[in-house]
Formats: sequence, structure tokens, C-alpha cells
Amino acid sequence: MDPKAPQLNLRREVGLTGAVALIAGTMIGSGIFMSPQYVLLAIGSPGASLVVWACCGLLAILASLSYAELGTLIRESGAEYIYILRNTGPSVAFLLIFSSVMFVRPAGVVGIALSFARYAVAPFYADCAPPELVVKCVAATAILVLASVNCLNVRFAMSVQVFFMVAKVFALLVIVIGGVTRLIQGDVLNFEDSFANTNVGINPIGIAFYQGLWSYDGWNNLNYVTEELKRPEVNLPRAVLIAIPMVTLLYVLVNVSYLLVMTPAELMSSTAVAVTWGNKVLGSWGWIMSVAAALSAFGSLNGTFFSGGRVCFVAAREGHMPDILAMAHVHRLTPSPALIFTTVISLLVLIPGDFQSIVNFFSFTAWFFYAITISGLLYLKIKKPELPRPYTVPIIIPILVLLAAIFLVLAPIIDNPQIEYLYVTLFIFSGILVYIPVIHYKLCPGLLTRITLFLQLFLEVAPADKNL
Ligand code: ARG
Repeated sequence: MDPKAPQLNLRREVGLTGAVALIAGTMIGSGIFMSPQYVLLAIGSPGASLVVWACCGLLAILASLSYAELGTLIRESGAEYIYILRNTGPSVAFLLIFSSVMFVRPAGVVGIALSFARYAVAPFYADCAPPELVVKCVAATAILVLASVNCLNVRFAMSVQVFFMVAKVFALLVIVIGGVTRLIQGDVLNFEDSFANTNVGINPIGIAFYQGLWSYDGWNNLNYVTEELKRPEVNLPRAVLIAIPMVTLLYVLVNVSYLLVMTPAELMSSTAVAVTWGNKVLGSWGWIMSVAAALSAFGSLNGTFFSGGRVCFVAAREGHMPDILAMAHVHRLTPSPALIFTTVISLLVLIPGDFQSIVNFFSFTAWFFYAITISGLLYLKIKKPELPRPYTVPIIIPILVLLAAIFLVLAPIIDNPQIEYLYVTLFIFSGILVYIPVIHYKLCPGLLTRITLFLQLFLEVAPADKNL
């Protein structure tokens, strides 16, 4: 890059409150309004489904504490990517960023957009499932609107985030309070014999966890923006310890409430759980729940776009993505190339995608890389105990997370091998085919430079710089 080119710097502006909002605001999105029925469907009984929800929360807490140690040790933004790059090496980091940019991020966007769409149209199709085409068109519109918002103005995108954060916590509290009212009325019928029909196979447990963990995904969101966090050594672990137990508690209580209001059969056959809940508890005000759930998903989608931009930024800075993706609009200071890129890929994934399979493959790929990241932490703890660590976790924590991650990645493959998991694995490793010629041997710099120059002029963007 030309050293004299105008540089864009990210400042340390995120305090503790912002940090908590960044984690909780991304975690609470579509999942808690969509996944409960799929968790129940996989695991079979209400009691076991609550256990799954609580265990997912515990896993998220342990994993994010391990990430807090990593984040205070390696203080660059970029989470898994940068930790794997520093610990394991550039080729594995490239595989991560390749599948992240080409699949995991866009799949995250599409999963949330689909559930936004389902809730947004639910009030118009009270008695039947909405047509797939309508859902997909609404999802595509949401993606395009949020992509434009994020391209146009960072501050506006942040306000959108805060506004929707409030809406989602409010919606969850309404559900919890509705459940408490039922409980006070002594309505605990669905919890009698609550472990009957539990599916104890490895595959159902794995799938139930995939669905549950989708709702918790985003627990690592702060590690993507460590460079913008004030006093990360203090605020990173603190924000994690506030946000994730809070979300876990809310999620478990919301599930209790769903199960108090609906029978397991009703829950499993509902097209949108929160709407069915709303219709039963709030009566003619039931539509409020679909609005709230749609707003929640919309907010999380916004947050996903926001942090998605950071991953591309960091990888492009390290030379693992085209330079153009590390650039920002010269006036608006938004990472528009990275956003446009994510939008295009997301729209492609949206065409064949359905929520349930997207969530399963998302979790599979995501936990594959969480496992590698956590192994990196174990390596550092064993081999380099002398490194200065402002925050440490007992070694048993990353060991437990690693065992859980290995289980999560292997369980569905071993128990019920589906050809799709092979495709996903091949896809992850296909990154090598790009890495060797383009990154390792730098085979086509001339072409890339010309494309970059053209896009730079066309999109009016300039390079952005590190903030350490
Ligand atoms: N937990 C979110 C939800 O329930 C999904 C988060 C997707 N992942 C992400 N890193 N943004 O909708």
C-alpha cells in the first residue's frame, strides 16, 4: 500500500457498557425466537431441552473466558483469525478467513435474515405457513437495507444497534414475565415427567446443541474489536462475565415460559414460537411478539454486518484478503467494499438456504475453528507460561471447552454421516487451492493491483490502518 495514502484509524471508544451491548446485542437475535422448537425436536423432551439450553450457556461462558485470556494476550482485533495466525500459522488462519468470509459470515447473515423475514410476515399469514418465496424476498430486502445503512454511516448503524438492543431485551422480559404469571397460577402440567421421550443418541444431542448454540453465537464478538475497546485487560473479562450469564439466564427463563404456555407438541409444530406464545398469552396483542422478534433479528443482523466488516479488514491488513477489503469510504469512513462483498455472498447463500440447515452447518464450521483457537490457548499456556497475562483462566476451562468442541464437530458426522458435512469440510480445505498460488507464491499481483485500483476509484475508498 502507498504509505502516503490517507489512513483511517479506529479509535478506542468502546467502554464497559458498549462492550456488554456488543456481546449481548449480537447474541440475542433470531435464535431464542426460532431455535427452541428445533432443540426440542432434536432432544425430544422439555426437561432435556432446558438442560441443553443451560449447558450451551455454560459452554459459551467457559469459551468466552478462554477468549478473554487470548484477547488480553494478543491485543489485535480479529478474534479467531488473528489468534490462529499468531499461534498456529498463516495457512490455517487463511483457511479460517476463507471459510469465514465465503460461508460462515454470510450464513450467519442469512440465518438471521430468514428469521427476521419469518416474523415480519407472520402476522399476515395467521393460519398458515407463509410462502417460501415471500420469506426469501423479505429477507433479501432486509439484507440490502442494512448493507446500505452500514455503508452510509457508522454512527447511524450504531444507533440502530442500540435501539434494537432495547427492543429485544424488552421482548424477552415480556416472555419471562408471562411465564412467571403462569407459574404463579400453578400451571406446571408440561413439566410433569419432563424427561420422558428424551433422545439420548449422539446425533440428537449434537444437533440440539447446534441449534441452541446458534442462539448463543456472538459470545466472542468483543474479540473482533479489541483494538477499539478501552482498557481491554479489564473490560474484556468484565463484559464477558456480565453479558453472557445475563443472556443465559434470560434464555433459560424464556424457554421455561414457552414450555409453560405451549405443550411440547404445539411448540414443535409452531412456525414461529414467539408468535404462538404471544397469541396464547397476550390474546389480540399477540402480534406484538412478532414485531419484537423481527426487530431483535434485525438488530442482530445489523451487528453481524458491523463485526463482519472488521474480520475482512484485519485479514486484508495481513495480506490474506484483497487490499480493497481493508479500505473505507473516504468521506463516510465505512468499510463499504467488505460490506458489499458480504452482501453479494449472503444473497447467493440465501437462494438455496433454509434456516435449520444453515444453523447446523454454521455451528459445525464455527466450532471447528473455535476448537483450533482453544488448542492455541492451551499451547500458549503450556509452552509459554512466561508471557505477561493480565487475565488468566485455570487450564481446566480451555480443556473442557476443547473437549466439548471436539464432540460438537465429530458427533453428527460419526453418528449420522450426511454428505453435506463432507461438502462443508471439503469447502473449508478448498481454501488451500487459493492459498498456495495467490498468497504463498503471490502469483497474480498485477491483476489484483489493477482490479484494486479500479474498485478504489469506483467506490471512492482508501486504506485503513491498525490501532495498537
Ligand atoms: N445469536 C444470534 C441469533 O440468535 C446469531 C449470531 C450469528 N453470529 C454472529 N457472529 N453474528 O440470531
